[in-house]
Amino acid sequence: MDLTGHTIDGKYQLLSIAGEGGMATVYKAVVRGAAGFQRTVAVKHIKPEYRALKNYIDMFIEEARVGSELAHPNIVQVHDFCSDAGSYYLVMEWVEGIDLGALIKVYSGQGRVVPWGLTTAIGVGLLRGLGAAHERIAPDGTPAPVIHRDVSPHNVLLGVNGVVKLSDFGLARARDRAGSLTAPGTVKGKLSYLAPEVTFGKPNTVQSDLFGVGSVLWEALSGERLFDGKTDIEIFKKIRACQVPPIMRRRPDVPQQLANVLDIALAADPNNRYGSADEFAHALAQVMKQHVGVDATGELRAAVAEVRKHLTPEDSDDASTSNYEPSSLEFSRADGASDPIPLETRKGTTPPGGRK
Ligand SMILES: Nc1ncnc2c1ncn2[C@@H]1O[C@H](COP(=O)(O)OP(=O)(O)O)[C@@H](O)[C@H]1O
Ligand SMILES: [Mg+2]
Repeated sequence: MDLTGHTIDGKYQLLSIAGEGGMATVYKAVVRGAAGFQRTVAVKHIKPEYRALKNYIDMFIEEARVGSELAHPNIVQVHDFCSDAGSYYLVMEWVEGIDLGALIKVYSGQGRVVPWGLTTAIGVGLLRGLGAAHERIAPDGTPAPVIHRDVSPHNVLLGVNGVVKLSDFGLARARDRAGSLTAPGTVKGKLSYLAPEVTFGKPNTVQSDLFGVGSVLWEALSGERLFDGKTDIEIFKKIRACQVPPIMRRRPDVPQQLANVLDIALAADPNNRYGSADEFAHALAQVMKQHVGVDATGELRAAVAEVRKHLTPEDSDDASTSNYEPSSLEFSRADGASDPIPLETRKGTTPPGGRK
């Protein structure tokens, strides 16, 4: 269903589809004010097939609530949440640019690699935003970390101005709101970026988010998913085994120091990873410092402008890289074969659901 042309809540005019994720469609829209004032915004709307599921609506409301409380230059700002004709719409800051998934796809399609300096800069921006969510302070003044739980290339937006913004807090859940929004026995988030312990049923934590960042950076550098497979089960097994191919074997140009940072971020044991997003960002910033002469922001601006020229509609289609279908939300056997991974081990897993 394409709502282009519709006006939501009497003020947000939907101009075109900007992107599609696992469960939502994001529109480029415009809101008009007095004296010809107008501002471009992004309007997110849940796909019809998810609308009947109360859990998804609750998650969407939670996304609006969490997002509205997070204000940081590296996080997509939530402006408004409204309902129109029986469905909800999340209004966000518009990021003129691309998502990291498109950058990786266009570069690998052209047989090119994403420069390591650029990847490092994207990592620093992403971690600054993630760190702000992890360090959230609840309105009553107590620490109330927000764990993103869905760090993946499509949720990292890259602006034409060279700014990196983390988006899609759709699976995030503030710690001050206990409880699970979905049934146990399901896994949320894009499967490929999950941390090993999460696949064993442990809750998502700061360290599982940091593993996701490591996985995204590894993919940006190599042009390939760190853990990939034909079925969800195959991917699951690979994550559990956590065999991370040394990045320098694929990218001999990467500084040893950056390879070391990735090894820490991708440690199988969460205790061996960075203690915080800030610590991880600091380690990446040190890599940049050792290599003077890399103008990362300029490089990012140029890369975004260039990728936009080569972008075809499918490149920005999140669904094309999705791993699991809504129907495979319940992790039971995507392939219909007997399930080698006992589901009991995953009981009590923090919500999941399934977006791609
Ligand atoms: N604020 C924004 N500005 C521009 N494009 C956006 C914005 N938010 C999302 N998009 C695009 O829409 C896609 C899907 O949005 P997302 O919020 O990740 O949806 P989902 O929750 O379904 O994954 C993103 O991958 C991105 O390409
Ligand atoms: Mg998304």
